[in-house]
Amino acid sequence: MKFFADTAELDDIKELAATGLLDGVTTNPSLIAKSGRDFMEVTKEICDIVDGPVSAEVVALDHEAMMKEAEVLRKIADNVCIKVPLTIDGLKTCKALTSDGTMVNVTLCFSANQALLAAKAGATFISPFVGRHDDNGFNGMELIEDIKTIYDNYLFDTEILVASVRHVTHVLESALIGADVMTAPPKVIKQLFNHVLTDKGIEGFLKDWEKTGQSII
Ligand code: E4P
Repeated sequence: MKFFADTAELDDIKELAATGLLDGVTTNPSLIAKSGRDFMEVTKEICDIVDGPVSAEVVALDHEAMMKEAEVLRKIADNVCIKVPLTIDGLKTCKALTSDGTMVNVTLCFSANQALLAAKAGATFISPFVGRHDDNGFNGMELIEDIKTIYDNYLFDTEILVASVRHVTHVLESALIGADVMTAPPKVIKQLFNHVLTDKGIEGFLKDWEKTGQSII
């Protein structure tokens, strides 16, 4: 499963990229606003740090205007992935851009039928929002299971990008279902490394090592 960071914070992206485990980045207008940075500038800087897809979202609502925005965004770097909302105009834009070889991430997906439409529109990634789904009394992971079944039934190439990830259990369940990608806030990605028994084990080994009086170097 690929790991994307859901953030526009450069320090976090640099830190995660240095682990060699970061496969891409997703941003959205709220994350750009939170960063306080210029959209074009920060997207370019993220694209320079990460080799994989960097999602940059259009804000227009009609197809023609989305295409114009996408034209500007895709000039930022080769690894820019245009993010469009799951609407009729968004999918029309998705079809046009992917037919032209541009990566597209269809965002704000909340049903398996929407995911089916996005795959038919040739989306590179579909982003079902599991956290927001859970928040509204639905089961986010059931949505991922349904999309996985549909995509497997018809051998769609669209990758399932689990979004709105809130905790490490979302990551585990995504991997068990066989989702292609998950995007999570840096805090959640860092939590994946932790286990209390790992810390305890290191402490114990180091204590015993001290007793040997030896050093490796
Ligand atoms: C995905 O691409 C979105 O940016 C993101 O996962 C939204 O998550 P949120 O529900 O935490 O805002």
